[in-house]
Amino acid sequence: MILSSAIRRLAAVAGVATAGLAGAALVPAPASPLPTVTVYKSPTCGCCTKWIAHLRSAGFTVVAHDTDDLNGVQSTFGVPFRLGSCHTAKVGKYVIEGHVPADLIQKLLTEQPRVVGLAVPGMVTGSPGMEGPGAEAYDVVAWDRAGKTTVYAHRQP
Ligand code: CU
Ligand code: CU
Repeated sequence: MILSSAIRRLAAVAGVATAGLAGAALVPAPASPLPTVTVYKSPTCGCCTKWIAHLRSAGFTVVAHDTDDLNGVQSTFGVPFRLGSCHTAKVGKYVIEGHVPADLIQKLLTEQPRVVGLAVPGMVTGSPGMEGPGAEAYDVVAWDRAGKTTVYAHRQP
């Protein structure tokens, strides 16, 4: 019975594979890895570096590129001019402009809303990477393809 022994052999292989999967399932699953954030910033920007450190301490992998043409990056990524800040980043399908808190980037990636990205326009004292005396309240805004903005979150100092 050549055929049946072949089937038995296949079943044995499948059994091994199943046992292997079951064994793997006993190993505690690592926290699902966060996607890489690719940041474009001016070479001399200190607050950009601090924001990158903030993202890394929240568990993001960050790849940073220095650029002398941030405006070019912003227009390529569709950041409305009025939402501009000191650095622009890409994470998954989203664009992140300025000092957006890491927990809101995680929320964005979890919720997957139909927006282009999140921005903290300008340079708000008290936002991540802009710590210091005189912290201000600020809005984190989302914008869509038409450039329409909505408040995604409000942060108190
Ligand atoms: Cu900045
Ligand atoms: Cu910056």
